[in-house]
Amino acid sequence: MAGVELGFMAPHPWIMVAGEREEGHHSITTSAFRRAAAEVANFDPDVMLVASPHWMPMSRLRIGGAPRYTGTLAEFLPHINEGLPPEHRRDLPPVPYDFPGDPELAARLHEAGEAAGLPVYLEPEPKALDHGSMVPILYLNPEGRFPVLLLSIEEGPKEQSRKWGEIIGREVARAGRRAVFVSSGTLSHHFVFDSADALWAQGEAWDRRLMDRISVGDSQFVFGLSDGEIAEGELEAGGLHGLYMMFSAWDAPPAASVLSYEGIVGVGSPIIRFDPAQQEILSSD
Ligand SMILES: [Fe+2]
Repeated sequence: MAGVELGFMAPHPWIMVAGEREEGHHSITTSAFRRAAAEVANFDPDVMLVASPHWMPMSRLRIGGAPRYTGTLAEFLPHINEGLPPEHRRDLPPVPYDFPGDPELAARLHEAGEAAGLPVYLEPEPKALDHGSMVPILYLNPEGRFPVLLLSIEEGPKEQSRKWGEIIGREVARAGRRAVFVSSGTLSHHFVFDSADALWAQGEAWDRRLMDRISVGDSQFVFGLSDGEIAEGELEAGGLHGLYMMFSAWDAPPAASVLSYEGIVGVGSPIIRFDPAQQEILSSD
């Protein structure tokens, strides 16, 4: 069966692209990433769609249409250091990546978005990658086995992301692809630099409310949150738009399970697995 058959929300802490991912840092997250990677390998998708809030631009949906992405994060890593307090900056190694794209599916999404009147930009040449794309790819597609379709994340009206999700679900199925969708991002995003695994208490409460709702099949909860409620979570750029897009790729709410949740310098960082097929079975009982 073709379509988006599996989904994940996954964080992208920069420390995990800095050669420190297997040295005891954030072991709850890294072990959940490894479990998710085993499942992705077993699923053996035709394509992995990765939506990242750090893959600019945000004003219109950017679709990566290059046949292959090869390089290092050397261009992007200084930008990460710029955003950190001086005492947390460090020399970061250039992290290599090498994986195929899916130009045919990218062209289909571009065409369908234009036909729907949505602002969209198809990028045929490979450009430097960001850590929001690379952390999930390093874990879930470490050998570059699966083609990756890179997407940006909108910040505009949620209705626009909903339309994109519907287009993605439809066009992936029409293209005959079995796909996994990765929404790269975190929930509450209030930095606390006291310790590597610090959590912001107000953010944890906000995050757990959302995770509790979607864990019982109420993925529509995210669409119902007001701007004021979302602001209380102090989310990073892109907000909940990655989830809006992923949930709208499916006709029914997916089954959701939280594989991990921990604070990473204050940021509420879950890995959540979404399975649309499982929910269909549950709801038909
Ligand atoms: Fe981020």
